[in-house]
Amino acid sequence: MNELDTLVDIAKALFAQCDTPADLENAKAQFLGKSGHITVMMKGLASLDVALKKTQGAAINVAKQAIESALQTRRDQLADAQLQTQLKAQALDVTLPGRHRATGGLHPVSLTLERIEQIFGSMGFEVAQGPEIETDWFNFTALNTPEDHPARSMHDTFYVEGGYLLRTHTSPMQIRHAVQHVKQYKNQLDAGQAMPEIRVIAPGRTYRVDSDATHSPMFHQCEGLWIGENVSFKDLKVVFTDFCRTFFESDDLVLRFRPSFFPFTEPSAEIDIQFSSGPLAGKWLEVAGSGQVHPNVVRNMGLDPERYIGFAFGMGPDRLTMLRYGVNDLRLFFDGDIRFLSQFQ
Ligand code: PHE
Repeated sequence: MNELDTLVDIAKALFAQCDTPADLENAKAQFLGKSGHITVMMKGLASLDVALKKTQGAAINVAKQAIESALQTRRDQLADAQLQTQLKAQALDVTLPGRHRATGGLHPVSLTLERIEQIFGSMGFEVAQGPEIETDWFNFTALNTPEDHPARSMHDTFYVEGGYLLRTHTSPMQIRHAVQHVKQYKNQLDAGQAMPEIRVIAPGRTYRVDSDATHSPMFHQCEGLWIGENVSFKDLKVVFTDFCRTFFESDDLVLRFRPSFFPFTEPSAEIDIQFSSGPLAGKWLEVAGSGQVHPNVVRNMGLDPERYIGFAFGMGPDRLTMLRYGVNDLRLFFDGDIRFLSQFQ
């Protein structure tokens, strides 16, 4: 075996030992680099005579090509091995269960509010929204509850800076919505024509300084207002009975209107309901305050109390939610415990 064949064998053996592309490139330099064996031999040709130069040159070239091809083979092998390790590291186990993202859901009280809106909506009631930070005028005075009125002490009010307060009920929306409605039909009213009836509910957050198992400083109310020229207590009774029976999916549920007092209604009634079956059967449960809108309030809405008569009610969606699902502590709704809340989905 001549010197060149040996050189090719050495190169092949050396390349085979290289485990990384960097090692391999270093090994290559020993043969094909500036002072590598092959390069040095090529330079040596210069001092030989022409005939020898030809045969030696050809032989060196054969060896050079053999080394280059061995180098390429090893390069390919290393690249292939690298790809294999990479693929192995990124391997997907298609038999693993999928990673799912938990789906959220509506809060039980929100579900109740949606239900209330849907049921009253089907009876032709609009839904109105208004501010939770109110003025004394809308929350009290316009609702026939002036400064020195004893009924003010029925509400433990949160006062905020700037003469504002956190609304203690949704009743201010009676005034806000009616005033808006009257403005919208001003031309008809000015011309002595009838305006379309006001039929609206106003659900939302309300606030009172109060906290125990059945009271929370933040709670929900839903106001209802129905004003027209020929509306009567009977209409309120029919609508509210219909609402309760639909809401609780109970056709034999009965209602009782118990005389009560609110400054903004006269006469006033507390609405109680009674189930005929289930765990609450036979008990009277208070669900709303109601009454005929007081003439002073009708006047504050910009309407003539001699011509327009109205009925209002205010119910507690939190309490409706407790009754519907059999929850006995209101605070559970506002603790934010996902184990409790997720049961309603
Ligand atoms: N606003 C009253 C309350 O919070 C409820 C009510 C509303 C009563 C409308 C009569 C008419 O207690």
